[in-house]
Amino acid sequence: MNVYDATRMVDVLTPLGYRCTEKPEDADLVILNTCHIREKAAEKIYSELGRLRAQKEIRNGGPQPMMIGVAGCVAQAEGAEMLRRAPYVDLVFGPQTYHRLPEMVARAHRAATDRKAQDRGIIDTEFPVEPKFDSLPVATSQGPSAFLTIQEGCDRFCAFCVVPYTRGAEFSRPVADVVTEARSLVAAGAREITLLGQNVNAYHGFSPTGGEWRLAALIEELVGISELARLRYTTSHPRDMSPDLIEAHGKVDVLMPYLHLPVQSGSDNVLSAMNRQHSAADYLAILDALRAARPDIALSSDFIVGHPGETDEDFEATLALVEQVGYAQAYSFKYSPRPGTPASAMEDVVPEAVKSERLARLQGLLNKQQIEFNEGFVGELVPVLLDRYGRRDSQLAGRSPWMQAVHVDFESAAGAQSAYGTVVDVQIISAHPNSLAAVPVNSARTAGQEPATV
Ligand code: 5AD
Ligand code: SF4
Repeated sequence: MNVYDATRMVDVLTPLGYRCTEKPEDADLVILNTCHIREKAAEKIYSELGRLRAQKEIRNGGPQPMMIGVAGCVAQAEGAEMLRRAPYVDLVFGPQTYHRLPEMVARAHRAATDRKAQDRGIIDTEFPVEPKFDSLPVATSQGPSAFLTIQEGCDRFCAFCVVPYTRGAEFSRPVADVVTEARSLVAAGAREITLLGQNVNAYHGFSPTGGEWRLAALIEELVGISELARLRYTTSHPRDMSPDLIEAHGKVDVLMPYLHLPVQSGSDNVLSAMNRQHSAADYLAILDALRAARPDIALSSDFIVGHPGETDEDFEATLALVEQVGYAQAYSFKYSPRPGTPASAMEDVVPEAVKSERLARLQGLLNKQQIEFNEGFVGELVPVLLDRYGRRDSQLAGRSPWMQAVHVDFESAAGAQSAYGTVVDVQIISAHPNSLAAVPVNSARTAGQEPATV
């Protein structure tokens, strides 16, 4: 979602004359868009700010001083504290206020160029979400694969998670707004859209026909956009995996056969301490239903090891669940206490060394499953949406329906160039832990068509 938010900040700043640069030292405005989910992510910001400070000082007194902004959930959580720790920061704003960037930037610019200005260090960390979406300009190009936020915030309050406090209460965008944004992304070249939300399958937006639509109905509406070849959504909570959504995986062919459905732990004791409101058996039953609807669906999850109270036995239950499911890929983390969350006040803290050991074992198993999953594709024909340029002129990269990164080598740079942004049939020639290598089978395929060979 931070990637999406960053593209929207660009949309807001473009009319002011800003353009993106790859080099921070060339920038008149640097915005760090921050994540508060684990301590490591949050702490990185201050070292990054230290580096930017040196660059800002070089530019000080020159015709165009550099401004530094900190956005996102760390900005939201720390507010004024951030300006105290890093007083050279010009703007601190939360995830729900970036539509006001033009006004904030104008004030910050006045302060940076006028020595007498009083208005130093602008802070804007208001809620709620609604005005932001109403005030954002039309989304511009994100390339062949685009993100679209449809839901923000979360009311689930998992004991370990800071999201309900930083992103705020759950909010769904109206169906009509989502459809308009999807159409403009597709008009700008998107062939795949990933619908985003902290708890995306809790979606319940106002519908054009009155009442509210859940995610399955929204997906069916988006299928009507003819050039849209692929749809995905992330991240989902098992409790919000409604029967109509599971069914949609069986009947909506643009919905890709891949689902990131975090379970966090395989132990009912830990799931209960985490306030996840489901058991391991509930989760496995959902996966059975998904596989019945879409037999080739690939699964992904998030795991936390070392949540307060997690015993050796609990951890073994997580390994057993992973063995049983067989994941295509997954993310796993050591539990990190977050300020203000119920878990941060729990007893039975797991020692750091135990967390590290458990994480290594879990990741060993997940990596093994990921490699096995990828190796199963060698020799297969797979449709890939080529959304990235590769290391060579004749190479493009993209994603398989199952989310694997695929590097495709064309015979010529011209062949690669003409296939960019389209779905192309490729043959997988080798598998690596994090990607597949392939050659095109018929690169003349036109945009938006999913071949029926797989
Ligand atoms: N410690 C470790 N991992 C966490 N996550 C969320 N909060 C924490 C925390 N306090 C993980 C969860 C979530 C993912 C986005 O980040 O696994 O699904
Ligand atoms: Fe955090 Fe996800 Fe739980 Fe919401 S459902 S509290 S975002 S982990």
